[in-house]
Amino acid sequence: MDAFSPSEQYLQDFHQRRPGATSAAFSALPAKTPSQAYKSSYAVLAAVAQDLSSSSTILDVGCGDGHLLGLLDACSPQSKLIGLDLSRGELDVARRTLPSRILLLRERAQQMSLASKSIDLVVSHMALMLMDDIEAVLSEIHRVLVPNGRLAAIVGRVFMLGPVNDIFLDIFRPIAKVDLPSMPMGDRRTRSTEGWIELFEGDFYDPQIEDVDVAWQPTPGELWDALIETYDIDRLSVAARLKLKDTLIAETSSMLDSEGRLRTGWGLRFIQASAR
Ligand SMILES: C[S@@+](CC[C@H](N)C(=O)[O-])C[C@H]1O[C@@H](n2cnc3c(N)ncnc32)[C@H](O)[C@@H]1O
Repeated sequence: MDAFSPSEQYLQDFHQRRPGATSAAFSALPAKTPSQAYKSSYAVLAAVAQDLSSSSTILDVGCGDGHLLGLLDACSPQSKLIGLDLSRGELDVARRTLPSRILLLRERAQQMSLASKSIDLVVSHMALMLMDDIEAVLSEIHRVLVPNGRLAAIVGRVFMLGPVNDIFLDIFRPIAKVDLPSMPMGDRRTRSTEGWIELFEGDFYDPQIEDVDVAWQPTPGELWDALIETYDIDRLSVAARLKLKDTLIAETSSMLDSEGRLRTGWGLRFIQASAR
């Protein structure tokens, strides 16, 4: 494998310490596009695979602990399934939990060993927006897809939903300014619809981009447990994290419902395009 960038080194360290953090956060929460409701944001992608012929080959880029591959295995048992990730910690979990028929590759998405035009569908859940050199990643995805093969991915849109996000950002930004070391991660174009349209130009056609809201009503404790599993908060010092926690819990206390829960969630995007 090529040398890892600072953000890729950090991602490997984080996922070695916290494998399965993403599936723990998202697998049990319902997801909604403007037109349809799904059991989870992973199920949005699994539904795309249902339109394929039974002998198709599906690649999950940045597959993590393999939660999506498990869903694909259940709904497309005849398909050939491949997962690719740079994290050994995540792939170890995936290997222990997934059927042996699923091929797992420890590789960077910027340089895949897969043959050109060998994949019918590329899926990716919460990974593309973290990747360095997204143009190289999309070029590799285009190379491995058959002509007219589809890319379907869930990426980030906003952090949390509703006023909880505003309160969080008001508290987090000044703390991060002082305490969070700079570490560029991902390409800014992956954060907007216009950016994705620009990135798809050339190698892809028929881009479709929809908002996905993952609703969630956590207690303040549940919210904090999820937040410490996110990259920026993980990188704060212990003192800064404590300050963030105490201030966030205090400032959201007036927003609790009668069951002591906050109304929030995660704001995601469902992006799709076909390979030329
Ligand atoms: C937020 S996790 C999502 C994991 C999984 N898709 C899920 O949703 O449960 C992002 C994953 O992308 C992987 N990743 C990040 N950059 C990568 C790259 N350049 N090549 C391969 N995998 C990468 C990380 O190792 C991590 O497992």
